[in-house]
Amino acid sequence: MFTDVSQPGPLRHFLQFNDFTKNEILHVLERARLIKDKFKHYAPHHTLHDRTLAMVFEKASTRTRVSFEAGMYQLGGSVIYLTTGDSQLGRAEPIEDTARVISRMVDLVMIRTYEQTRLERFAAHSRVPVINGLTNEYHPCQILADIFTFIEHSGAIEGKTVAWVGDANNMSYTWLQAAEMLGFHLHVSAPEGYRLDPRRTGVPPAGVLREFDDPLQACRGAHLVTTDVWTSMGYEAENEARRKAFANWRVDAATMAVAAPDAIFMHCLPAHRGEEVAGEVIDGPQSVVWDEAENRLHVQKALMEFLLLGELRDPAT
Ligand code: CP
Ligand code: NVA
Repeated sequence: MFTDVSQPGPLRHFLQFNDFTKNEILHVLERARLIKDKFKHYAPHHTLHDRTLAMVFEKASTRTRVSFEAGMYQLGGSVIYLTTGDSQLGRAEPIEDTARVISRMVDLVMIRTYEQTRLERFAAHSRVPVINGLTNEYHPCQILADIFTFIEHSGAIEGKTVAWVGDANNMSYTWLQAAEMLGFHLHVSAPEGYRLDPRRTGVPPAGVLREFDDPLQACRGAHLVTTDVWTSMGYEAENEARRKAFANWRVDAATMAVAAPDAIFMHCLPAHRGEEVAGEVIDGPQSVVWDEAENRLHVQKALMEFLLLGELRDPAT
């Protein structure tokens, strides 16, 4: 008789940013610092030797795929890449059955899909940890990388102000979870019809969230200005309406001029120059978007380690 020995402790997932405690997030960020440092020095770091990650993509990706795939190989493990089109998911195999099967064969799963509930259904039937690689509702791996990048460039994020210009999408709701947990201020400005839904935000603690009609006011004094595409994946049918609605929600030099003098600019990418961000900003001196993209690799390696091995404290490992 074979027994299931896949997990040392209780099964943990990373489906939303606040699935982790503040201390766990801080641990992952600290560990990512060590992992990045070793990577830069070509020092081997094979903590996940012989482990296998399955990645399931139901939407397109460049950064998420490359960072998870390269990251797992660099940790000594291996990766299986699946898409809806080339798996039985595209022929209507239930997500629950897919979860039951995949999770008997691998150690860890990352999924990019549409509804958060679809991800949750997978996780509910998985024997191994599941990571949210983006859903319509949340993008927690990206925010982990963004916070790591902020700390790298600007120091502690607690008490600082992050200005979000644009759609109330997966990124903005994840920023809000992070602001509540880590104690920074989130300023949000979006056109009518595309604003945060109070049924989803609830009533955040005092001082965490401020909403502005004018994007310029949202960015005044901010330490980080960030934005995202006007139309996220899965919403393409709304493209024309969104192009009109978001025309004044563009981060340009005038926007950066009202932010703090040492403010930085981030964008999760892919970006549309001339739409949500002017070329002069994304390609300008305040932009840290390439570090931000690279940091997906380092934070996700720390995240995978944490989910499979728990809190590693020894710098030698
Ligand atoms: N930022 C991000 O998740 O990029 P990809 O869509 O390329 O994975
Ligand atoms: N909000 C964007 C992020 C892409 C990484 C989308 O969901 O398409």
